[in-house]
Amino acid sequence: MSLPKRSRVLGWGASVPDLIVTNDDLSEVVETSDAWIQKRTGIKERRYVDHADGSVVMGAKAAADAIEMAGLEPSDVDAIICCTLSPDIDFPGNASLLHDRLGISPRIAFDVRNQCSGFLYALATADQFVRTGGARHVLVVGSEVHSTGLDFNGARGRDVTVLFGDGAGATVVGPSPDDEHGLLSFKLHAEGAYADKLAVFGPSGRDKPRIKPERMPPEDPYFYPTMEGRFVFKHAVEGMTSVIRAVVDEAGFQVSDIDMVLPHQANLRINQFVALQLELEERQVSNNIERYGNTTAATLPLLLTETAAAGRVSRGDLVCFAAFGAGFTWGAALYRW
Ligand code: ACO
Repeated sequence: MSLPKRSRVLGWGASVPDLIVTNDDLSEVVETSDAWIQKRTGIKERRYVDHADGSVVMGAKAAADAIEMAGLEPSDVDAIICCTLSPDIDFPGNASLLHDRLGISPRIAFDVRNQCSGFLYALATADQFVRTGGARHVLVVGSEVHSTGLDFNGARGRDVTVLFGDGAGATVVGPSPDDEHGLLSFKLHAEGAYADKLAVFGPSGRDKPRIKPERMPPEDPYFYPTMEGRFVFKHAVEGMTSVIRAVVDEAGFQVSDIDMVLPHQANLRINQFVALQLELEERQVSNNIERYGNTTAATLPLLLTETAAAGRVSRGDLVCFAAFGAGFTWGAALYRW
């Protein structure tokens, strides 16, 4: 069997909860305002799950659409990679649970825990499987439920709470029928020295016992995400700008050749700074943060699904994915549509 030169996204899908939570809704429980959130982040609303639905249920809906669009049967999927920081249960990972829910039996199933850059890391991993013959059709699912783990206690944690929303997106990655279309190159990075700049510290394997009743919310913010916002912001702008430049350069293109950038959606201002530095026009960058906030690993497949549905990418377009997040981990992928 000859191996494909490139992998390609054969199908995609997304699923978001019905419940819309506006900035005004949030202001009723968190000390914030619609004006502050819109000015600093560009977010107008986000979605929250019904508490009975976790990231597996949402991920399964997105996955079913992606498999159907790829023209495949669920039994054609031979690997599942789930990226999430909000798995349904502590272990096993979402990939095992999704495996069962979709009623399919791929040989390979595992989770990637890389927060906002999770989808990019998973896409790069799927590409390796496809090009080396380790798997033919890889289902990559990004799915997040943040709303059940945010700090809704007044001013505490509000910088993070207003940013996040729930959602899911999925893609099926498989062999490209030609050498021109599909994933051209990717660049991934990590800097663990900044791991504590954006993190959820509890529960921790370093604690004995791991779950301490006195650390339980709402009194103690130990289980809520914390972030040094300005520090992360600065590194996100620098990281995304330089990694986009690098991935384009490596593939022998100029930034001006890019038809569409699909950037992670952490803060609209981050993406505006990146676009400014790269001299990208508004039409070359797709954003949907105003409706969903930051859905971490779900962001890129959700954005891909919406951008394609809106007809903003055409065959032959040069598309650049980029993401930055906790870890820090970041990266970019260049893709011929
Ligand atoms: N509502 C009202 N006021 C607020 C809020 C809020 N939600 N949050 C913070 N403030 C206040 C602060 O208390 C501060 O008040 P002070 O001046 O009286 O001290 C003031 O607003 C300014 O606070 P900053 O934190 O300096 O505000 P900034 O403009 O930096 O915006 C933000 C904060 C939105 C968090 C920004 O720093 C950011 O987006 N950072 C990067 C996020 C990111 O990229 N994350 C990575 C991906 S996420 C992942 O990987 C899991």
